[in-house]
Amino acid sequence: MVPFTAFRGRQTTPDAGKIGRVTEIVVRWSEPLLADERHLKLLDEPERGRYDAYRLEIDRRRFLTGRVLAKTLVAERLGGTAESVRFDATCADCGKPHGRPRVPGANLVLSISHSGNLIGVAATDGVPVGLDVETANRKADASLVDYALSPPEREAVAGLSDDERAAAFFVYWTRKEAVMKATGKGLKIPLQSITFSRFDAPAELVASTDAALDPARTRLADLKATEGHRAAVAALTAEPLVVTEEHWLP
Ligand SMILES: CC(C)(COP(=O)(O)OP(=O)(O)OC[C@H]1O[C@@H](n2cnc3c(N)ncnc32)[C@H](O)[C@@H]1OP(=O)(O)O)[C@@H](O)C(=O)NCCC(=O)NCCS
Repeated sequence: MVPFTAFRGRQTTPDAGKIGRVTEIVVRWSEPLLADERHLKLLDEPERGRYDAYRLEIDRRRFLTGRVLAKTLVAERLGGTAESVRFDATCADCGKPHGRPRVPGANLVLSISHSGNLIGVAATDGVPVGLDVETANRKADASLVDYALSPPEREAVAGLSDDERAAAFFVYWTRKEAVMKATGKGLKIPLQSITFSRFDAPAELVASTDAALDPARTRLADLKATEGHRAAVAALTAEPLVVTEEHWLP
């Protein structure tokens, strides 16, 4: 029995109505799961080491939840049990097991993100994918806006009230992290090197001065997630996206 319920309806990028191939992405969300034996037994040794190294219980539970979501999804797609799924999470920079998780030998590609009480995993076949979620109650002061947004994006948020500016800022921020995570480079890509469509328009990468991100081969979508969170998912593909969000029912 699959313990998920789908959102009513799926979202598509604006070009998904055209005839042709699409890239399907599933995003599964959960609140932090309990650290009980049912979940802990899914961690292998390096993962248990990472789990134990978190000082705060909530950080341990967020990490555990990401692994439970991801392993359950992999087992459903590829067969076998969630317990038997082994990830290679070798960091490309330092070799430690804290990079993005890959399933050796499989076409399935994953991205994990956690913030506040929401944890998500995005999965698709054969193309790099990136997911980012952030809590929606954060402020975006002028220095953060200047640091992260490109000139056209700064212009789009100028003149908004504090609350409206924070909401718009985190639309841009989650889009940026999603595309950067899809490349595997993460925040090593300069935040201001990329520009998105307006925060209140369908998500599109309109310009990039970084070689890792080509607007013609980058698609993304703003997600529903939950009331208290903003989120975006991106894939490095020229194909339109069809994105389904699902929630774990413990
Ligand atoms: C990846 C990164 C954007 C994470 O951002 P964040 O908002 O703090 O955290 P999120 O919850 O959204 O994402 C964390 C997840 O990203 C994934 N991840 C880690 N490195 C990644 C990378 N290079 N590319 C894509 N995803 C990555 C992991 O699955 C991680 O979750 P897990 O540790 O539970 O498996 C940020 O850590 C980064 O830019 N890392 C790469 C650059 C870097 O610092 N390298 C040096 C490390 S030695």
